[in-house]
Amino acid sequence: MSIFSDAIESLLSPIGDLLRDPSVTEVMINGPSEIFVERKGLVYKTENKFPSDDALLSAMRAIAQSVGRVIDNDNPRLDARLPDGSRIHVVLPPMAKNGTTVAIRKFSKEKLTLNDMIGFGSISKTAARFLDICIFLGKNLIVSGGTGSGKTTMLNVLGSRIPKTQRLIIIEDASELQVKAEHVVQFETRKADPTRGTTEVTIRDLVISSMRLRPDRIIVGEVRGEEALDLIQVMNTGHDGSMGTVHANNPVDACTRLETLCLMGDTKIPPDAVRKMVGSAMQIVVQCSRYHDGGRRTSHISEIIGLDVHGNYVARDIFRWVQTGKDPETGKYIGEMIPCGYVPTFFEDIMVNKLPFPKSQFIPPEWYIKMKKEAA
Ligand SMILES: Nc1ncnc2c1ncn2[C@@H]1O[C@H](COP(=O)(O)OP(=O)(O)OP(=O)(O)O)[C@@H](O)[C@H]1O
Ligand SMILES: [Mg+2]
Repeated sequence: MSIFSDAIESLLSPIGDLLRDPSVTEVMINGPSEIFVERKGLVYKTENKFPSDDALLSAMRAIAQSVGRVIDNDNPRLDARLPDGSRIHVVLPPMAKNGTTVAIRKFSKEKLTLNDMIGFGSISKTAARFLDICIFLGKNLIVSGGTGSGKTTMLNVLGSRIPKTQRLIIIEDASELQVKAEHVVQFETRKADPTRGTTEVTIRDLVISSMRLRPDRIIVGEVRGEEALDLIQVMNTGHDGSMGTVHANNPVDACTRLETLCLMGDTKIPPDAVRKMVGSAMQIVVQCSRYHDGGRRTSHISEIIGLDVHGNYVARDIFRWVQTGKDPETGKYIGEMIPCGYVPTFFEDIMVNKLPFPKSQFIPPEWYIKMKKEAA
């Protein structure tokens, strides 16, 4: 089945095979004659070429038009979602020095599941069960990571574990999440379009609306603006178990990033107070990382326990992915996710609710304790 009309399909024929190949997850075009793809997390150069920059540009124009947008000298950047859910971003010359530059993140119908992730070694079974328990207990949870590290995929998986009886409201810039749940309401932002007289509707506007729509939990696909403050307030005011993703390199950075975003708006709340709010709203950070071997893994699952006496965020790792070696043939990292020996502050909730997660599950394996000792 094709996602494009016949006209677009013929314009895109130079990369048709890549678009059809299910093992290709991303197509990157750096001008007409340099095309790369991502397969299993690694980037490869292809032999595909467009006959000219004009041919490539025509294809991009047609795609833009098909989704009601324009790409030309006055609008040299396009950020759009294709009818099948794939994401495309285009930048034209002269800003793009290589010629028309494009990345297509292909939409895969087969969304990864928690079991897939366990199978890939991206997360351990025990850690996955622990996250299930956090979600069941309504812990606020932020998925943090760099670009393309697997944040949205993780949020999708975690959102699908929310108990059936709850009403979820999902807010995104461009709909990507496909949370499998019974009671889901989904929102998408809108850009202003003066030619049609439509105004902008932001993530922040939609968070405010969703508060009035009786949510049990609110999920913000990507927190990257002043809506952070609203989400933090949501998390602090009884909509426990809300979730979102944020761009950050480690769990403490995720807190700092949210704090910075909170202060971006015209808030009258003093910075110190914002920091306290972030410290108390944040409970669990799931850190996604893309490793040099192409693997995407959950590098940390940490609890944020608030601020120390100096006002710094305190994160405690509950699980971590630890590398123990490297396969000499494939270059793939060898390692596993292990508990770090830290028992989360809400362990009592786990016990009281008779959830099957004994304290012993937080104890690190012998080899790790030994490795630590040797390294010290
Ligand atoms: N654990 C995983 N193992 C293998 N591939 C994964 C894993 N998680 C995500 N992927 C793949 O990596 C790609 C990027 O994932 P995703 O869109 O979730 O990243 P992201 O961090 O949300 O990216 P962005 O910063 O662009 O929003 C997708 O093709 C996805 O299928
Ligand atoms: Mg994403």
